[in-house]
Amino acid sequence: MDNNELIGELNKILTLEHGHLGMYENFMSYKDKDVRRTFRHFMELEMEHVNKIQNILRNLGAKPSPLVEGGDIIGKMFGITINIADEHAALKAFKFIEEKSHEGYLKFTVKLEKENSNLLNYIAEEITSSNQLESYLQYLWLEDKLNVTRPS
Ligand SMILES: [Fe+2]
Repeated sequence: MDNNELIGELNKILTLEHGHLGMYENFMSYKDKDVRRTFRHFMELEMEHVNKIQNILRNLGAKPSPLVEGGDIIGKMFGITINIADEHAALKAFKFIEEKSHEGYLKFTVKLEKENSNLLNYIAEEITSSNQLESYLQYLWLEDKLNVTRPS
């Protein structure tokens, strides 16, 4: 993988992470207190994900450039409209997106590790595998919460 390809992939991931941040930053709007608390923490996790990807891009000499600038990233990338008034539907959509995130990071980490490069191994170990694990934990929490949340 050359530098340009790596930067392109990281900018795509950065776009998705901005989308994740958008999912949880309205945490105060939820009726369920447990959801509010958890989404607040998820928002902080997503900020870390964004920062880690931005830092590695800067260390590669690139300007972090999300493919979609602000707005409804989840709508644009996945064609999903999220209506937070319907908490059950929102949990379901977020579970789907975190599962996709986990799968995407897993694939990307494997791809990075296939090449025998110190830089790519470092990115895989320090960044993509930890973001992948956290997205998986978020997915599991959402799945668990869905099991005890009734559709409205
Ligand atoms: Fe994330």
